[in-house]
Amino acid sequence: MSEPLRLGIAGLGTVGVGVVKIVRKHAALLEARAGRPVTISAVSARSRGKDRGVSISDFAWEDDPVTLAKRDDVDVFVELMGGENGPAKAATEAALAAGKDVVTANKALLAHHGQALAIQAEAAGRSIRYEAAVAGGIPVIKSLLEGLAGNQISRVMGVMNGTCNYILTRMESAGLTYDQAFAEADGLGYLEADPQLDVGGIDAGHKLSILSAIAFGTQVDFDAVELEGIGAITIEDIRAAADMDYKIKLLGVAQMTGRGLEQRMSPCLVPDSSPLGQLQGGTNMVVLEGDSVGQIVLRGAGAGEGPTASAVMGDIVDIARGIRLPVFGQPATGLRNVPAARAAVPAPYYLRIQLQDKPGALAKIARVLGESGISIDRMRQYGHEDTTAPVLIVTHKTTRSALEQALAGFRETGVVEGEPVAIRIEAV
Ligand code: HSE
Repeated sequence: MSEPLRLGIAGLGTVGVGVVKIVRKHAALLEARAGRPVTISAVSARSRGKDRGVSISDFAWEDDPVTLAKRDDVDVFVELMGGENGPAKAATEAALAAGKDVVTANKALLAHHGQALAIQAEAAGRSIRYEAAVAGGIPVIKSLLEGLAGNQISRVMGVMNGTCNYILTRMESAGLTYDQAFAEADGLGYLEADPQLDVGGIDAGHKLSILSAIAFGTQVDFDAVELEGIGAITIEDIRAAADMDYKIKLLGVAQMTGRGLEQRMSPCLVPDSSPLGQLQGGTNMVVLEGDSVGQIVLRGAGAGEGPTASAVMGDIVDIARGIRLPVFGQPATGLRNVPAARAAVPAPYYLRIQLQDKPGALAKIARVLGESGISIDRMRQYGHEDTTAPVLIVTHKTTRSALEQALAGFRETGVVEGEPVAIRIEAV
């Protein structure tokens, strides 16, 4: 019989337990596909005695994930602890130094240390695989690394945080306020321990920075991702967007421009009828565009035990088969360090302005737009309150700097109440 591929699993939360279950349930299937058995030698987690619904008594136990990572009976270190520093980073580095391959679901680790870890792995002739780090069960890493390897990628887009999509969808479908939808997501256990990772766009930004590196042959640069969360989105914006046949999504967009790599994770309007506009609840969607393939759309569960463990197992089977790829699709020493291009590509914008309801107010707003070089595409005014009226404007394509000039100009007019809202409309 062929030598088994022996796993050491650090982290026995939802995903770790899912991996244990698949290794047991599909032992014969995995062996047939990998050409060798896949076994678990040892595990490590915060608490040994916790009831996880699966027995771990067959496996050796290590309190310290670094010790686990270096064990002689471990071929692949499976890192499912999370966290950008601390034990996850120390144990991953230790595993690579000890000649192990690594499979991880840790987007924060790769977003912050992906380049250094890739250099270490490739120098040692080892693999780091991370399908589960981006969009849960959707095989988007494999699609970019392998299936689309013959394409020049022009744009990567995605809704990659299910919690945010759930909140925005519930605001839209049930008329909930942001706070109500957030509380509902919290009650369902959707939020990360630090909710800002979700609603602040950080988790999705981590994922986008990883996809960018593969798509554009660049060093992972999470710090260059322009981040804006969903906390400022109101039910009024959701309704107004719907009225104009748009949905609001926390959308990641990465594209190479003449000025460098643009990476944005921010609320955007997308056409209601587009696949992204139709995406409901906690589901993820990634849209990839290549010069030969055109546009492809991948959709599926972005989190949860089964989908995320499925992604981990795909990586493990590849390693068992002897498939070895550069971490980001080409040798890490050759990945480019390109400048960040902030909002380089012009776009139309949706504006919501609370305007004083008096003669000449609208003319002042129109004048500011004109002086900023911004042309109006569509405009609506309804829902007057006592002394104010909301004005909704969709602009033609404009630059961020022109938009910022207009927003500053609105403040000078003396007819605008509060802060105007401006949300980019993404062509999808
Ligand atoms: N918290 C993430 C989400 C899953 O809501 O999609 C883990 O990245």
